[in-house]
Amino acid sequence: MSVSRHALQRTQYTLDSSSERDKLPSATLPSVTLLSGRSMPVLGLGTYELKHHTVDTVGQALEAGYRMFDTSGDYHTQRGIGDALRDSEVPREAIYLVTKIEETEDAFEATRANLSELKQPYADLVLIHRPPARGVGETQWQGLRRAKRLGLVNDIGVCNYSIEQIEELVYRTGELPAVNQVEWSPFGHSPSMLDFCHDNGIVIQAWSPLTRAQRLNDNKLCAMAARYGKSPAQLLIRWNLQLGVVPLPKANHAQHQRENLNIFDFEISQTDMSKLRTLNEHYSAMGKLPYV
Ligand SMILES: NC(=O)c1ccc[n+]([C@@H]2O[C@H](COP(=O)([O-])OP(=O)(O)OC[C@H]3O[C@@H](n4cnc5c(N)ncnc54)[C@H](OP(=O)(O)O)[C@@H]3O)[C@@H](O)[C@H]2O)c1
Repeated sequence: MSVSRHALQRTQYTLDSSSERDKLPSATLPSVTLLSGRSMPVLGLGTYELKHHTVDTVGQALEAGYRMFDTSGDYHTQRGIGDALRDSEVPREAIYLVTKIEETEDAFEATRANLSELKQPYADLVLIHRPPARGVGETQWQGLRRAKRLGLVNDIGVCNYSIEQIEELVYRTGELPAVNQVEWSPFGHSPSMLDFCHDNGIVIQAWSPLTRAQRLNDNKLCAMAARYGKSPAQLLIRWNLQLGVVPLPKANHAQHQRENLNIFDFEISQTDMSKLRTLNEHYSAMGKLPYV
């Protein structure tokens, strides 16, 4: 089946490189609008396998200007994120918290457990971590809907779903996911997934947007980045933003964190955007892109 498109708003990206917004400090990051009408920052910090104390790493990221944090029940970073938020002067309303439930878990109870670790009354977004072995997660979706009805989460979505799996989920639940979080870089992405999500107002969040640093030495990428006076990591992040994709680069080091936010003062030309897309070889740091 195909997802009904009427009555669905197209994802509204408020990023406009020529606007004054680009000159604003990172604490006022531009946002994207989700199907619900709520806003999400265009860039967040990934927290999978943070090497140092999470509370220090997240605290330093808050100071640098990060306002969105991506975690999961199985990352072991939720307690540290909760502590860093508690210690920070940034108000909760200015923070965007993303967490995930495992596809094998009771979604409602797992959401409550995640919030308990985070020491938060609600999350902004909760995602099903991956499609279950059987079916498309209808039961998990109902659990997340219950959490949403009770105010434990504002928006709900999925990770690593193919177009067909999203269509099946929509067919069974009558509801589109706000977000599909997938591994995404010029080296590994899917133009058809991009079109599908844009057409249906689903925001793509990019995990491993820096290829876990595996491709940052690519010759073509480095040469192009040098032309813009930017690092390869900055070019990868900006590429996502210009596609309307929300990257979640992980960085333990303060220098990397700051560098990854410093991407609002340049624009990749359309020619170079196209060249970057030709690097696509369905590369995955995990071996295989699960959604293609
Ligand atoms: N939904 C899912 O199934 C799923 C799966 C995997 C990941 N994720 C999420 O996506 C996030 C990001 O993915 P990831 O952590 O796998 O990898 P990534 O963000 O692609 O890469 C992280 C690596 O890049 C390095 N790095 C960061 N900024 C850099 C810069 N400016 N220059 C050079 N190197 C730089 C980091 O170094 P340092 O740390 O040393 O600074 C780290 O080694 C995760 O943390 C997690 O939140 C979701």
